[in-house]
Amino acid sequence: MANNSSFRVLFVCLGNICRSPMAEGTFRAQVQGENLQDKIGTDSAGTGSWHVGSPPDRRAQGEMASRGYNISDLRARQVSRADFDAFDLVLAMDYDNLEDLQNLAGAQYEHKVQLFLDFADGEAADEVPDPYYGGMGGFAHVLDLVEAASRGLLAHVRARLDPET
Ligand code: 4NP
Repeated sequence: MANNSSFRVLFVCLGNICRSPMAEGTFRAQVQGENLQDKIGTDSAGTGSWHVGSPPDRRAQGEMASRGYNISDLRARQVSRADFDAFDLVLAMDYDNLEDLQNLAGAQYEHKVQLFLDFADGEAADEVPDPYYGGMGGFAHVLDLVEAASRGLLAHVRARLDPET
């Protein structure tokens, strides 16, 4: 991620090998499609530490590749308190992640923490379900949700970007 980005978004799930790298990969592709990669920075992290250093799950990479996204460069890391200073938005995939992030953030940074699907216009679901223990259908469903939310998120971030940048 470019450190001088005007606006930085962190996507967070439990393991940082399925949902949040899929969200990061989808959103960064949309950002690149609009040529905003110098202004909008992206990253992802997990609330857990089991998979630190690992690339995204093979099934997540496969589903992403089937729709033209390459996320093979991503590596899992654990979210830290410093992230709440470094990022403008910290987006949780589900309510468990949201609660963990709110506890870690504390009152000072709680306003930066939100559910990612808050940005999915017309989407009835609140949570991106954990696909780890299911079949490939779960990964396709995750990608449907994160594509929809990424579009709404990009519109939101564009509106918040400083017009001078
Ligand atoms: P993610 O999925 O939170 O979408 O990355 C999971 C990955 C690994 C585990 C759970 C969820 N795990 O228990 O190892």
